Amino acid sequence: MRIESPRYTERFGSVRINDVQKVLELDSGKAKDLPLHENIAVQKIEEDVIKNFEEKMAIVIPTMDEKLKLFEGVISGVPHECLIIVVSNSQRKKVDRFRMERDTLQQYCHFTRRQALIVHQKDELLGRALAEAGYTDLLGEDGKVRNGKAEGMVVAMLMAMLARKDYVGFIDADNYFPGAVWEYVRCFASGFSMARSPYSMVRILWRYKPKITSGLYFKKWGRVSEITNKCVNSLISNNTGFETDIISTGNAGEHAMSLRLAEILPYASGYAVEPQELVSIFEGFGGILPMSHQTAAKHGVEIFQIETRNPHLHEDKGDEHLGDMLMTGLGAIYHSPICEGETRQLIMSELLQRNLLTPEEEPPKPRLSAPPKKIDLTKFFKVMEEHLPSYSALESE
Ligand code: GDP
Ligand code: CO
Repeated sequence: MRIESPRYTERFGSVRINDVQKVLELDSGKAKDLPLHENIAVQKIEEDVIKNFEEKMAIVIPTMDEKLKLFEGVISGVPHECLIIVVSNSQRKKVDRFRMERDTLQQYCHFTRRQALIVHQKDELLGRALAEAGYTDLLGEDGKVRNGKAEGMVVAMLMAMLARKDYVGFIDADNYFPGAVWEYVRCFASGFSMARSPYSMVRILWRYKPKITSGLYFKKWGRVSEITNKCVNSLISNNTGFETDIISTGNAGEHAMSLRLAEILPYASGYAVEPQELVSIFEGFGGILPMSHQTAAKHGVEIFQIETRNPHLHEDKGDEHLGDMLMTGLGAIYHSPICEGETRQLIMSELLQRNLLTPEEEPPKPRLSAPPKKIDLTKFFKVMEEHLPSYSALESE
């Protein structure tokens, strides 16, 4: 694969944010013993290097009542070396959709000779394991994991740690193009191969996000992302004193992290999760507040933003969903202890303009769960390890 080298890197305390890097070539051919002179503006990432990172990566697919055909397409796009982890919050009453997902995954693993894990978010044993480990932040009053994509993501991170992986990537189940899924994972691997710090994150940006109106209209970025990015950039600019537009991936659902970074960040629930990850990194390592983790501060936290060749097309969930997403995402920025007056004003004016708030109101404060590292992981592993075969899609045959 060939990708542009980062042209510019913004520094915020010990956080290094790289400018968007475009994919130039999806397949860059064989490795050469004596490489030709490469242009320094371009990085060639060899297939073997990509495969070695994929081997150490779990790909998480959060899903809730998505069309089975889409789910099937998504899993078919995940490169073979990755461990697939499905966290589902699909219904089990009337129609047992979770069972259908599990059957699909099992059949796929059977024929492709690969391993995958699948867990239902409301699994009782999972709830118990989390309670024993002291991770009650994720649990509702019934002792089960609360609803929400973010809650599912955190569960999946713990499963990835249990499976001894080093990296975890997230890809939504409602993606229409298996080829895009395949490209995301290659971008994750390429980003990690460029990282100089073990604490790294790769966020995906789409060249085009088609919208189905009349015909197919290829829109550059979504509206929600544009506003979120503007507010995240304002947060950075006002804290560093230098104006920047470095962030273009504030809402990136498709993203990946080294587990060393993933385990030390707190997470917001619901759709605030993606912008909150950035906010958590800036709070922890931006140098405004005390550094939240000394080793990570020493190495620095590195963020890559990679623009794919494939367009991004997923299920259209309507305007109300978009409003909710914008509001919760901006809420995460607004309530950060490093969010100053100017950014707060900007957030309020964006929300007021869209009639999402009245002037007396404030955007909602996100509910935060503690970093996974703070819990007693040995206890969690002990309970889960024993039952791991029941979460495995490829039973020993
Ligand atoms: P958008 O793509 O950001 O607009 O949001 P979606 O509604 O498409 O959700 C992103 C992904 O998270 C999809 O694959 C959903 O099926 C999945 N998802 C949504 N809610 C939940 C949940 O409560 N639990 C889990 N495990 N997944 C969820
Ligand atoms: Co979606």
